[in-house]
Amino acid sequence: MSDSKKRLEGKVTVVTGGASGIGEATARLFASHGARAVVIADIQDALGEQVAASIGAEVCTFARCDVTDEDQVEALVRSTVQAHGRLDVMFCNAGVVSPSDQKILDLELSQFDRLMALNVRGVAACVKHAARAMVEGRVRGSILCTGSVSGSCGGVRRTDYHVSKHAVVGLVRSASVQLGAHGIRVNCVSPYALATRLTSASLGGMSAEEVERYYEPAMVLKGGGMLKAGDVAEAVLFLASDESAFITGHDLVVDGGFLLRR
Ligand SMILES: NC(=O)c1ccc[n+]([C@@H]2O[C@H](COP(=O)([O-])OP(=O)(O)OC[C@H]3O[C@@H](n4cnc5c(N)ncnc54)[C@H](O)[C@@H]3O)[C@@H](O)[C@H]2O)c1
Repeated sequence: MSDSKKRLEGKVTVVTGGASGIGEATARLFASHGARAVVIADIQDALGEQVAASIGAEVCTFARCDVTDEDQVEALVRSTVQAHGRLDVMFCNAGVVSPSDQKILDLELSQFDRLMALNVRGVAACVKHAARAMVEGRVRGSILCTGSVSGSCGGVRRTDYHVSKHAVVGLVRSASVQLGAHGIRVNCVSPYALATRLTSASLGGMSAEEVERYYEPAMVLKGGGMLKAGDVAEAVLFLASDESAFITGHDLVVDGGFLLRR
């Protein structure tokens, strides 16, 4: 890519859940857009190391971090700032679905708690420590969270997941109000379903093609194929870059019109 088209030139970035799916696609896109550093933070060591190596050791490193543990999140941010001098972009993306359907009448509260510990508490810890580093370093940074269309509608199942993604939108709005005085933007990218390990697992081990066939009918936009991780990564890149300099507290849905008919 020519230098003039690079939108993250010199930026120091962290991507949680960067070993797979949306996080991996975003880490690759950040690197191709001139980021000085891309830190992949994940609990899958081998995969994370492999993705980082394939992006290039001069730009990308893997850091083991379980975002449900605040101390690990704090250490991740501290080590990034120590290694690279600052933190410009934090993409709080790691998330899961519960193993069962989690309909309200059969809600397993132990699964509910585990999911909230990652999808809400983990994201809150990442926003908190990224924001502290940006405020201390006087960096007018960009913090991004992965929401979901499930944060804007009810679901026939996966109650806990819908609750968690609504909470992410609330977190983003509150954090953006409080951090605006420091010039820090906080936004959310909310995809419709796409084929990743998360959706394959939630649909009983379906292949990527089966997952896409399952979800495609509910999209309004036709003819362009199914939503891919790279499409979501492009929306994240926009909100991470200076092109979105005046956008904060926004929930950018990337859903091929799915929510229009809800
Ligand atoms: N795939 C979809 O259809 C879809 C749609 C809307 C939103 N999302 C959201 O996108 C985000 C990424 O999901 P994906 O679809 O790319 O799934 P994925 O399973 O491919 O990637 C998730 C990554 O998060 C990591 N992770 C899990 N627990 C972690 C922890 N405690 N600490 C650090 N990392 C951890 C996993 O190891 C994995 O690499 C999630 O927040 C998910 O809710 C996905």
